[in-house]
Parts: sequence; C-alpha cells; structure tokens
Amino acid sequence: RAMVQESAIATLSWDELQPMVESCRQCGLCQGRKKAVFGTGDKQAKWLFVGEGPGYNENLQGLPFVGAAGQLLDNMLKSLGVPRGEQSYIANIVKCRPTDEQGKDRPPTADEIAACLPYLHRQIDLIKPQIIVALGKTAAVSLLGMDLETPVGQLRGKVHRFKDIPVVATYHPAYLLRKPADKAKAWADLCLAIKALPVS
Ligand code: URA
Repeated sequence: RAMVQESAIATLSWDELQPMVESCRQCGLCQGRKKAVFGTGDKQAKWLFVGEGPGYNENLQGLPFVGAAGQLLDNMLKSLGVPRGEQSYIANIVKCRPTDEQGKDRPPTADEIAACLPYLHRQIDLIKPQIIVALGKTAAVSLLGMDLETPVGQLRGKVHRFKDIPVVATYHPAYLLRKPADKAKAWADLCLAIKALPVS
C-alpha cells in the first residue's frame, strides 16, 4: 500500500491540501468516514492546538472538537484570548474517525498516524504557528516522534520542539472532563506555553 508522499504534499497550497484530505484513501479509516475533519481556524494562527482525531460528532460535522470536549477547549481558548478562528487553529493527528468493532471511538494506530501525519506537517508549514499545544498523548508523541506508549504526564512541564516551533503537551480535554482535578495542571501547561511564545 502506497504511503502518502510527504514530499508531494509538502508543496501543496491550502486549496489543494483540503480536498486531498477530504478524498484521502491512504488508510482504512476512509471506509467508515462520513466527513474527514481537516481542521479549522486562522490560517496565520499564532496558536495551533492539535488533538487526536475525530469522534462521533466531528465525523458527522466535519469540524474538530464540536462535542463536549470541544466546549472545554473553547473555554481554554477564550481564557488565552485566542477564541476559535482568532489567532488559533485546531487540527488533529488523524483526519478520519477511528472506531473499534463495536463502533466506539478508539485511538489511531501507528500506521494510521504515519499515513496521515504528512497532512498535519503541511498544515504546520503553512500556518507557521508560534506555539503548538499537543492535547493528549497521541498528539504529543506523534508530533515529537516518540513512542506511542509514553504517558502524557511524562511529557508535560517542559517545552519541546517540532522543527523550531515550541511544543507544549497537556491533558486531552476529554480526559479533563473525566478528571477535573487535573484542570489546574492543564492551566499550568498553558501558562508554560505563553512563556514559550517569542517576545513580540
Ligand atoms: N477529540 C479529539 O482529539 N479531536 C477532536 O476533534 C474531537 C475530540
């Protein structure tokens, strides 16, 4: 099975990239796809937020973080002064919803991540964000090229780099809904991200 050619994708414009993602057949996730979730926001965003992949609602609407976790993310964005569409962009590691045999959400596999990552890499090159916030383990390890089993707790608290862009890892908003006591730690992560912004 041919992998997406990172070099071919690396020259595409926004107008070429989005339809390519929406009709992508590079992995099995296309089979259950209702809508691919390309990503949304300010194409010159200072802040890029990266999640894991579409869930039930995102697959139907074609937009990232539209469910309950999205409401929490929206509150985080507002607190940072970068509400959806204003100096922020939201994307995922995989653009199509991964499900198990029961039709429930599951994390993407290493192969699915590898097939999809060139699209996010191109989005990052086009946006040129000043800071990337990785929401949860899948986002953080995929961007940083680390082992998929690395717990997010191990990645928090320091500024990583993707190329030369600072990357801060924090808890996924869906996890914070289950464990609100960790919201204080997530807020500390966002403060670390603010500090990692270049002075302007
Ligand atoms: N969870 C994610 O990681 N991404 C979404 O777009 C929605 C929920």
